[in-house]
Amino acid sequence: MRAELAGLREQALTDIAACQAETELEAVRVRYLGKKGSLNAILRGLGGLSAEERPAVGALANDIKDEILARIAEKASELASDGLRRSLAEERTDVTLPGRARPRGHTHPLRAVEQEIVGIFVAMGFSVAEGPEIEDDFHNFGALNFPPDHPARDTQDTLFLTLADDALLRTHTSPVQIRVMRSQRPPLRVIVPGACYRRDEPDATHSPMFHQVEGFMVDEQVTFADLKGVLVHFLRRLFGPETGVRFRPSFFPFTEPSAEVDIACSACAVTGRPTPGCRVCRGKGWLEVLGSGMIHPNVLRAVGYDPEVVRGFAFGMGIDRLALLRHDLDDLRLFFENDLRFLGQYPS
Ligand code: PHE
Repeated sequence: MRAELAGLREQALTDIAACQAETELEAVRVRYLGKKGSLNAILRGLGGLSAEERPAVGALANDIKDEILARIAEKASELASDGLRRSLAEERTDVTLPGRARPRGHTHPLRAVEQEIVGIFVAMGFSVAEGPEIEDDFHNFGALNFPPDHPARDTQDTLFLTLADDALLRTHTSPVQIRVMRSQRPPLRVIVPGACYRRDEPDATHSPMFHQVEGFMVDEQVTFADLKGVLVHFLRRLFGPETGVRFRPSFFPFTEPSAEVDIACSACAVTGRPTPGCRVCRGKGWLEVLGSGMIHPNVLRAVGYDPEVVRGFAFGMGIDRLALLRHDLDDLRLFFENDLRFLGQYPS
């Protein structure tokens, strides 16, 4: 019986050493030490031993049982620390690997000009508003005093949507005048940057999507002199303190009187007079930069203001062409193609 026990011990220790996982260890324990395990099977023979032999063999069996349990515990903790070591090794970060450089973006040149323009007006106390690019007939036309079926609507080359009867892509930022005035009371000084859309074939100077900045001021005492003062100040901030500015009578349904505003061509300004064949102004000596005027009484009425009490001026400018001027470029498409080789040349 001692020999049997010695054999069992031997075999159990070998099996434990071969275990690769905690579940295997548990199986070994059950196989040797469980109720129906090999140790108990051997001990069932104890009864056949002499009274002197019995305690000694019993003690031996207990020692073997303790030893096996101790080895199982030892092996279990080995397996656990192996696992830890393995996962540490596998998941280690190699700090010597070269980094992955992320190219740094910057403000798009168009957006940069927009921010510059908005910034000049914010410094004059204007606040910034935005409106939806999908508009309806009322905001884009009706409330802006475009009569129904009036030919002035044709000048806008509107892109209509099939979403709803009168859904369209706004053709200018002026509908935001209506939205702001309908939700706020004067005094108002507001500047509105945003994208607009018209049915245009894209070429060097046309894009079906373009950008405007709209501005307006409404209060009890606002006059055309305020319009001139604000716009001259703005244009000289943007183009330089000596820039020549002129106002020409014009027409917009939503302003009366209306004026288009030109700045002296900076290319010609070098010579002091219009240069025939100038690439920038085509020999005219002036560049048209914005439309403006005193807000029409019908527009004030459409937003619930009393034109006997408040007046306002408004202006709008396309900023894509201003950005071309600013960077001495002559093709609008460069701004929309998003070629990083181009954009990368205009870090903000
Ligand atoms: N909305 C006009 C346009 O797109 C510009 C403008 C705005 C004119 C405000 C006068 C007043 O051409």
